Amino acid sequence: TTIYVPRDSAACSVGADAVAAAVTAYAEAHGLDIRLVRNGSRGMLWLEPLVEVVTDNGRVGYGSVTPQDVPAILGGEAESLGLVEELPWLVAQNRLCFQRVGVTDPLSADDYLAHGGMAGLRKAVQMAKADVVAQVTESGLRGRGGAGFPAGIKWKTVLDTPGQLKFVCCNADEGDSGTFADRMLIEGDPFGLIEGMTIAGYATAATEGYVYVRSEYPDAVRTLRQAIEIAYARGWLGHDVLGSGHRFDLYVRVGAGAYICGEETSMLDSLEGKRGMVRAKPPIPAITGLFGKPTVVNNVLTLASVPAILADGAAAYAALGMGRSRGTQVFQLAGNIARGGVFETAFGMSLGTLVNDFGGGTRSGRPVRAVQVGGPLGAYLPADGLDIPLDYEAFAAAKAMLGHGGIVVFDDTVDMAAMARFAMEFCAEESCGKCTPCRVGSVRGVETIDKIVAGQDTDTNLALLNDLCELMTDGSLCAMGGLTPNPVLSALRHFPDDFASQETRS
Ligand code: NAI
Ligand code: SF4
Repeated sequence: TTIYVPRDSAACSVGADAVAAAVTAYAEAHGLDIRLVRNGSRGMLWLEPLVEVVTDNGRVGYGSVTPQDVPAILGGEAESLGLVEELPWLVAQNRLCFQRVGVTDPLSADDYLAHGGMAGLRKAVQMAKADVVAQVTESGLRGRGGAGFPAGIKWKTVLDTPGQLKFVCCNADEGDSGTFADRMLIEGDPFGLIEGMTIAGYATAATEGYVYVRSEYPDAVRTLRQAIEIAYARGWLGHDVLGSGHRFDLYVRVGAGAYICGEETSMLDSLEGKRGMVRAKPPIPAITGLFGKPTVVNNVLTLASVPAILADGAAAYAALGMGRSRGTQVFQLAGNIARGGVFETAFGMSLGTLVNDFGGGTRSGRPVRAVQVGGPLGAYLPADGLDIPLDYEAFAAAKAMLGHGGIVVFDDTVDMAAMARFAMEFCAEESCGKCTPCRVGSVRGVETIDKIVAGQDTDTNLALLNDLCELMTDGSLCAMGGLTPNPVLSALRHFPDDFASQETRS
């Protein structure tokens, strides 16, 4: 019998390693012939550790397993969740980027091949470079790191920029609150990212790739390094990728531990061994990037979406989604939520459906009051404003953003003035300090919100806060200072009562 126990760090944080040890010990003690596979997580985090036992009908799941549950599971006496792939949470999804995560052994090259791996790269290397880029453009794939810039146009800029040496840099700094999809993808299907980066390298004539993984993800770093070694041994990387004559070398670099190192130019500085500071754009990294060379900078999810686009064709990908948001996005449900985890779906589902139907509302059981989408720089949406489709443009129209797909839920005990203050405080803490609106503005922002809440000259200070936000939006060099007003102003707009002075409120 094959038994799956996730090796994903979210699963391990709730005891998956102990469960795996218990499975091995029980099998040895009872002479059971089992094969234990440490898979990635299926993304149903409330069910972790999720143990799966292979049966004639498919993989049967057992949720929130403890070592004490193992004898009953292996003895066939435990109550199961049924076939994992028939669970409503999974059936409702459209997994392309995450198609193998939780399904395969992340470090088995054979498993990867058996589940469609390398089909995209194989096709790509038989095509002209410009045609590969055209496929990505036609698919409508936009940058999944948050900004949503068309990936194909970025790649075309790199391809068309002459240069002996070009780079592909993968941003796995994943600093947004409530996001963990990059980590789960790397831990659960590292070959998918390697294949996507190699396709990007081939398409843009780049010969070196770097994955910048945040230091808080040691398991992802380890898994990726092991996967890269295996990929070299298989000829998927190196001087002659799949016999195409194209060279592509791939390296992992551990991040320097600052939110701002996830901003692309800061990340490039950090990769060059400098302190991560934001560079003024232009020049854009596609033309003048790592060490001044033309560089593709894409997020993990963008690059990991590419193999399926090449394998199944741009049209299949572009057929999904709505408006200018094509394909799927890997949404991450976090915060005060009953069922948190990753949910990959075509753009267009409503935020409310995702939070209430699939997420099951709050974990505390109290009413949802606010939802922050797109990380700490994303806007807060009120509970009655969740009927909005998950689509870049629809969110922009609601003065919000999808960002990297992180969705953080709050119940009715949240103090939105405190959340607005936190946004300014976070900016003050994480600012790289290069420009004044962000470096100084964020500190003034904290002070001003404190005065408003204390009831000091409220009208004057509210006007000051609005002015300050306008200045930060217009005058900041990068998204850190430029987007911090989003959470602040949305909190003010949707939850004005929370900003009334403490005295008035009590
Ligand atoms: P941006 O709009 O300046 O750029 C988007 C991308 O397009 C960049 O890679 C840029 O170099 C590229 N680009 C722009 N014009 C181009 C051209 N003509 N040719 C080729 N490439 C071109 O946005 P930015 O500042 O890179 O990202 C801001 C976003 O980052 C925010 O919207 C936010 O959602 C997201 N974000 C994500 C975080 C995460 O942890 N994933 C953390 C913080 C913010
Ligand atoms: Fe640095 Fe903030 Fe200016 Fe961005 S907005 S360059 S983080 S000081």
